[in-house]
Amino acid sequence: MKPGSRIYVTGRTKLIGSALARRLESEDLDVLSREPDYTNAAEVHDYFQNESPDYVFVAAGKSGGIRANQERPAELMRDNLQAIQHILPAAHRHGVKKLVYLASSCVYPRLCTQPMKESDLWSGPLEPTNESYATAKLTGLQMCRAYRQQHDAPFVGIIPTNLFGPGDTFDADNSHVVSALIRRMDDAKRDGADHIDIWGTGTPRREFMSVNSFADACVHVMRHYDSDEPINIGSGESHTIAELAESIRDVVGFEGELRFDTTKPDGMPEKVLDVTKLSALDWTCAADFKSALEETYTWYCHSAGVSAV
Ligand SMILES: NC(=O)c1ccc[n+]([C@@H]2O[C@H](COP(=O)([O-])OP(=O)(O)OC[C@H]3O[C@@H](n4cnc5c(N)ncnc54)[C@H](OP(=O)(O)O)[C@@H]3O)[C@@H](O)[C@H]2O)c1
Repeated sequence: MKPGSRIYVTGRTKLIGSALARRLESEDLDVLSREPDYTNAAEVHDYFQNESPDYVFVAAGKSGGIRANQERPAELMRDNLQAIQHILPAAHRHGVKKLVYLASSCVYPRLCTQPMKESDLWSGPLEPTNESYATAKLTGLQMCRAYRQQHDAPFVGIIPTNLFGPGDTFDADNSHVVSALIRRMDDAKRDGADHIDIWGTGTPRREFMSVNSFADACVHVMRHYDSDEPINIGSGESHTIAELAESIRDVVGFEGELRFDTTKPDGMPEKVLDVTKLSALDWTCAADFKSALEETYTWYCHSAGVSAV
């Protein structure tokens, strides 16, 4: 990618896409401002024909936490499959210079050895609470490989860890854990509530990464990685859900109790990515977790039109 390259970032209005656009535009790269509805094959085809992107980041798709995965598995699976089915063939037909496809760490088996290595993919059953979404994401990774095998297409699969940051969706019920907890603790603080309930035992261990660091790593991978093996992108730093909740409580300034509802599912006991391959490309995560949470909370207050105090 160099000045003048035309770059199609799918999903550029939200968390990952907006961070990628900011990162690319900081180098004066030309991120296309328009994007098609990826559920419409003809619209995607016309888009490639009219806009001629050189590079593509497939960072759009519906996703959510455990609740969204349990209540809307068909919708999440169908939507993500449509993105794959329409964007990848169009990118190939139009001869893009490179495409990176973003999967999810849900693609690893439920009881995968930790930290999870790229070679562990397909080695066991998926976590049942998100298997429909995960199956769609695995299909995306396999589709990248298939296009490489059959057409030598320059498609690369990325497996991102849990991301958070500016641009996230702050819905109390249907968001990822960091943004949902920020929203719920901020609401509870403003309402003077004495506690909030958190799904599960608080013991599952998860890796979190600021979306700005992720975008930087993604651009690095676009430039320096070219293989049919997917690559993990993570921070290498993990926390239990209880530790995460305590950190968010500090940042938000919520003084009530954190009550863990152990009747609700935990999801996978531990999920941490092995980032050896990424480190071998000379990329390391420089961001500080607490500062990234503070930046996210500030962004949330600003976007919600409320004061942080
Ligand atoms: N967030 C994470 O921690 C994480 C981790 C791993 C993988 N991922 C994956 O990365 C992708 C993006 O995640 P995200 O967190 O950035 O999601 P997000 O904040 O919900 O953003 C989704 C983006 O996709 C766009 N989109 C949805 N339906 C579309 C359609 N039919 N046509 C075109 N664009 C459409 C949305 O545009 P509108 O706003 O206009 O609807 C939005 O820009 C998802 O596939 C997700 O599974 C996310």
